[in-house]
Amino acid sequence: MTTFEQAKGRLLAQPRVWLITGVAGFIGSNLAESLLRLNQRVIGMDNFATGKRLNLEQIKDAVQRKQWAQFTFIEGDIRDLRACRCACDGVQYVLHQAALCSVPQSIEDPIHTNESNVTGFLNMLVAARDSRVRRFVYAASCATYGDRCAVPQIEENIGNPLSPYAVSKYVDELYANVFSRCYALETIGLRYFNVFGPRQDPYGAYAAVIPKWMQR
Ligand SMILES: NC(=O)c1ccc[n+]([C@@H]2O[C@H](COP(=O)([O-])OP(=O)(O)OC[C@H]3O[C@@H](n4cnc5c(N)ncnc54)[C@H](O)[C@@H]3O)[C@@H](O)[C@H]2O)c1
Repeated sequence: MTTFEQAKGRLLAQPRVWLITGVAGFIGSNLAESLLRLNQRVIGMDNFATGKRLNLEQIKDAVQRKQWAQFTFIEGDIRDLRACRCACDGVQYVLHQAALCSVPQSIEDPIHTNESNVTGFLNMLVAARDSRVRRFVYAASCATYGDRCAVPQIEENIGNPLSPYAVSKYVDELYANVFSRCYALETIGLRYFNVFGPRQDPYGAYAAVIPKWMQR
């Protein structure tokens, strides 16, 4: 049995309470569907900045009725600390995915990107800390490697950021590490590269490679 299968077995045996921010987006909606299929209790938050109601409808159609009953959706914004606190209440694990992901948009309007990706991220850390969540797992980015071209990339060696989006994702890592040190909040950042799969928008910010090949 693989480690992944063992982990799924543990979750089935003892369901947990999860918060997924950005749940109406590509990655968030797939996380929610997977966890609901494992009979977990899932709270999802999104402001539909880029996420879609259709993604939530698709989860509803994909899971059993009793699994869907385990899902609570909060239409809320991570820039609002009160909404973050409300969403974190009683939660064991946070999977923080909400962010503005468009690099060109971040170059055009860095303040807007910073509000969701840095201030919103910090709000979520504070809310998770105060709700005493067990672990805060967040979407970091390969953008943190910046202009470092060496192959293979090594986690400790990063270059200079190439966009305001990249800065925001790097700042998130710094804040998460500081929260681990200062408040003993367990944080894990996953530097996603080209994630692909169902519900990915082929015109989306990260749809550079695989969905475009598929489309053609
Ligand atoms: N897709 C990839 O290959 C990739 C690569 C690196 C990093 N990431 C990161 O993974 C995460 C998820 O990316 P995705 O591809 O699913 O993007 P996505 O745009 O499909 O999902 C992001 C979700 O966050 C929501 N959101 C944005 N701002 C918000 C706010 N202020 N309050 C509440 N919700 C908000 C959006 O409405 C959307 O549903 C992001 O943090 C992104 O930076 C993705």
